[in-house]
Amino acid sequence: MAEKRIVVMISGSGSNLQAIIDAIAGGHINGRIAAVLSNKAGVFGLERAEKAGIPQIVIDHKGFEDRESFDAAMIEAMDAYQPDLIVMAGFMRILSAKFIQHYQGRMLNIHPSLLPKYKGLNTHQRAIEAGDKQHGCTVHFVTEELDGGPLAIQAPIDILADDTADSLQQRVHSAEHKIYPLAVEWFCADRLQHTASGQVQLDDSILPSEGYQFIQE
Ligand code: GAR
Repeated sequence: MAEKRIVVMISGSGSNLQAIIDAIAGGHINGRIAAVLSNKAGVFGLERAEKAGIPQIVIDHKGFEDRESFDAAMIEAMDAYQPDLIVMAGFMRILSAKFIQHYQGRMLNIHPSLLPKYKGLNTHQRAIEAGDKQHGCTVHFVTEELDGGPLAIQAPIDILADDTADSLQQRVHSAEHKIYPLAVEWFCADRLQHTASGQVQLDDSILPSEGYQFIQE
């Protein structure tokens, strides 16, 4: 099976990017990161890419008149690498329908909540304030509905009585670093698919709507 070409999209620290770089270096993923794209210059994720010898693309959204022209520039730059998979890893811009349609079925995102709960921002604080017993993170395929695409893997985490948004975020982040490389591994092994009917298939099974449940020891 041919090695998959991956483009990772970031806006910040890139710790999920690092987890995927490490999983590839460890021989777990049948793929390589062809390029990392950031909409912000100078972010730490770009340094991580540089250190791993991965080409970097910086396209600052502020240089464009509207979302469509920014997205068109990203498509052009990313398609030069002929990606099989787009991995959004803390990319903090909303994407146009045209961009999403272009990569539909081959674009993953990670979100710091147990989707469909807490789409959008400040997810850790919102879970604590709601008195939830559990929080977590989710890898999903990207569709035109923001944070609304079908779920691939979800990692639930217990919320402790003395948790703050920061302490909870730290545990969510370490769970992200486990489930994102796993989703990329499965996709690159042709085990994980976004089906034509909009569901997620792992091997021979359609996953339930909450995705594969990753239970941590
Ligand atoms: C991650 O926690 C990811 O779930 C979140 O941004 C962080 C990026 O961290 N993404 C979103 O909130 C998208 N809606 P990283 O740059 O260290 O990988």
